[in-house]
Amino acid sequence: MGTLQLSVFWWGAVLVGSFLLPEAESYFLIKLRALCKFCDVEATSCMGEGMCKVECNKTAICEHEEDVCVTIWRKKDDNVTLETLCHDPAKKLYGLTLHDYKGKRCEMKAVSGMNSDFFICSCSEEECNMDVFFTTNFSPDHHVVAVVLVSLMPLLVMAVLVVASFYCYRVFRKHQAHHGCKKCSPLDCSDARPIVLDNEGSDSSSTLANNLNHNMELLPIELDVLVGKGRFAEVYKAKLKQGSSVREEQGFETVAIKIFPCDEYASWKNEKDIFSDADLRHENVLHFLTAEERKVQRQYWLITAYHPLGNLQEYLVRHVISWHDLLIMGSSLSWGVAHLHSDQTTCGRPKVPIAHRDIKSSNILLKKDLTCCICDFGLALRLDNSLSVDELANSGQVGTARYMAPEVLESRINLENIESFKQADVYSMALVLWELISRCSSIGEVKEYEPPFGNMGEHPCVESMKDSVLRDKGRPEIPSSWTSHTGIQTVCASIEECWDHDPEARLTAHCVAERFNDIEYLDKLSECSDTEVKIPEDEK
Ligand code: ADE
Repeated sequence: MGTLQLSVFWWGAVLVGSFLLPEAESYFLIKLRALCKFCDVEATSCMGEGMCKVECNKTAICEHEEDVCVTIWRKKDDNVTLETLCHDPAKKLYGLTLHDYKGKRCEMKAVSGMNSDFFICSCSEEECNMDVFFTTNFSPDHHVVAVVLVSLMPLLVMAVLVVASFYCYRVFRKHQAHHGCKKCSPLDCSDARPIVLDNEGSDSSSTLANNLNHNMELLPIELDVLVGKGRFAEVYKAKLKQGSSVREEQGFETVAIKIFPCDEYASWKNEKDIFSDADLRHENVLHFLTAEERKVQRQYWLITAYHPLGNLQEYLVRHVISWHDLLIMGSSLSWGVAHLHSDQTTCGRPKVPIAHRDIKSSNILLKKDLTCCICDFGLALRLDNSLSVDELANSGQVGTARYMAPEVLESRINLENIESFKQADVYSMALVLWELISRCSSIGEVKEYEPPFGNMGEHPCVESMKDSVLRDKGRPEIPSSWTSHTGIQTVCASIEECWDHDPEARLTAHCVAERFNDIEYLDKLSECSDTEVKIPEDEK
């Protein structure tokens, strides 16, 4: 149908309608053409808040059937205007599309980017653009606030995300650091304290558990063989007789007794005080049971768990170890030292860090699963914040010359910083790790056991160690053949970082332990991929 035919049909329909129904003409016309306020732009007192009545006295029948009523409120500087008009919503008005024209009320909406404060509304009822409604809060000022808020939203969201991620990261790290809590027995994590039978009385830090218990009864013990001889004491394997509380309550039948002669009281006292801090408890630290003053024999005793495999040095003399053994031993040793040095327990409680100051392979015991536990705390130092520089200085140059860090050899340890003591322990630990590798089958040809700096004789003195370690900057040799094994190469890299001449440049024990975890993980991964490759081969 053509346009001419359509309009003839349309006007015909209107005429017939108006003939049949007298009011039909106006009915049709009103329905077909909107009746709107139409004053173009006029100044107004409407402040763009609440409801405004448009001060326009012209009402127009819109020109086009499609037209709807529109009102626009603008404010530029102090000039506030209202514009009223008819407009076809299919067409853009000031570049805008009318969306709300089907409603009966003219609801003002703010539009940004119009070079002035700009509100617009449209509607389809008769003169509906006379009363305009500004949605509450959407005054121009509020509008500005809203625009600012909307533009700041991405920043706010980013900030919230960053804070949330940081929080999650902290929780994750804390969880990692304390993952041992899951494994802790109530004894490990509670405030349970070891019972130390001490009839001497309390004279040290209140954190020391033994001062809580003054049980005078000595344990019924039957000494067995001598298993170790140290600078200050001898160690015996021993049996706890039936009926003893430690045997019945803690399940210990065989124990180790470290016996100090009475003139080594200071050494016994130091070790007892270190052990009596329940926060020292760790799977890689020798398990302490109790301490006793044996007055009749004029001896001082320390009673601990007994480990039949003996110390690491003895074990390395008698055994070549596999790469797997090396990982177990090296990892557990570094976790043990990390625990001593840490200022919190595996459960996250604050703890006094401890420097061992005599780390060497003969002060490390092997458990049945080949994990290490650190023993001999005769020279250990509680790194209390309360320690004065004088107290630290008086603690002097201690340890075993062969394992002494360069700064300890020349008595130039930085007493102002407790980290220095940990750094010296890390140096000694590096020498023990070197001993482990020297006896590992993965390096190729394995020589007889030799201690680090084995060329220095059986008991090198401080002066000759100074010549080697300080003057010549000597370190145990890492032959190139050792590093053909990737895992060993990685451990050697850590060792070299741990025995750096500069104490500050050394790794922390915790870092070494984490590196062992990484190596173990990669090792398991490569084991898995090896098996995957092998399966089809076996199936052939
Ligand atoms: N040598 C020193 N202490 C020991 C212990 N607790 N168990 C076995 N041998 C040791």
